[in-house]
Amino acid sequence: MLAPSVDAMDHPVEASTPTWLNGTPSVRVIAVTSGKGGVGKSTVAINLAIALAKRHKRVLLMDADLGLANVDVMLGLRTSRTIADVLAGSCTLPEILLEGPAGIQIAPAASGIRRMAELPRSEQAGIVHAFSDVAQDVDWLVVDTPAGIAEAGLGFAAAAQEQLVVVRNEPASIADAYAVIKVLHQEYGRRRFRILVNMVRHPQEGLALYEKLLSVTERFLQVSLDLVGTIPDDPTVRQSIQRCRAVVDMNPGSDAGQAFKKLAERADKWPGAESAGAGLEFFVERLVGRTPKEGRA
Ligand SMILES: Nc1ncnc2c1ncn2[C@@H]1O[C@H](COP(=O)(O)OP(=O)(O)OP(=O)(O)O)[C@@H](O)[C@H]1O
Ligand SMILES: [Mg+2]
Repeated sequence: MLAPSVDAMDHPVEASTPTWLNGTPSVRVIAVTSGKGGVGKSTVAINLAIALAKRHKRVLLMDADLGLANVDVMLGLRTSRTIADVLAGSCTLPEILLEGPAGIQIAPAASGIRRMAELPRSEQAGIVHAFSDVAQDVDWLVVDTPAGIAEAGLGFAAAAQEQLVVVRNEPASIADAYAVIKVLHQEYGRRRFRILVNMVRHPQEGLALYEKLLSVTERFLQVSLDLVGTIPDDPTVRQSIQRCRAVVDMNPGSDAGQAFKKLAERADKWPGAESAGAGLEFFVERLVGRTPKEGRA
């Protein structure tokens, strides 16, 4: 297993730091991803975002998943404007943000953000400007990404400082988590992955699954995996979702609520935004500027 990597050194970003970010405190960017769909990415992204906000962090939750269960819908929020409108120039990012529990800001998903790397230059510039509008006001950017290894979703995951891979204990989820780690490593040069095991039925299940995943990655990939937590399979999660609420908000004392709180505590202790490859500037530049390596292994 490798020591935590210095990702930016692996893939230097060509563009210089945008002047609008000079002197701004760095934002920590975490992408919540998975191989298989339905393992709880959106649930994790929402609850982690709120749990961080409860730790007095300013959090922007960006919905980059175009699936049916969008973050705004899951929280019972309604919107007519999305990032597509920002890219089209009809409004600014702050204007489309919704306010969620504990004061988190939510940027709703839009089909306009599907293929960032292929956007025309003018729209890429639009993204840079969009983020410049919020850079001063955010400590954490949490990105809910689509499942799988389709390029559209991986672009977000690859651009983030931290990749949080959500996995649950079923063969397809483990195999697909391996696939996503492999592509993020081989095509985007990412080396460090945070593993979160969701819907565990007993405390040992998470560690056993992590070790299973580790045994495969150690054989075939030069990556490091950290187990950052387990979230129990908890009926209060489903109950809260049915009520368009987040479990950390509706039932913070529940098993899942406490597990998300612990996750946020740990995330807050991860090496900070000062580390190489961190910050909103790297995220934005990777998002609009990087192209994946040729060929898929
Ligand atoms: N820890 C948990 N305990 C119980 N149920 C959970 C837990 N985590 C997620 N779920 C349930 O699993 C279902 C899928 O969750 P979610 O929508 O967050 O997954 P997803 O990975 O975002 O899915 P998609 O790939 O479709 O975007 C939801 O019904 C949610 O209530
Ligand atoms: Mg989802």
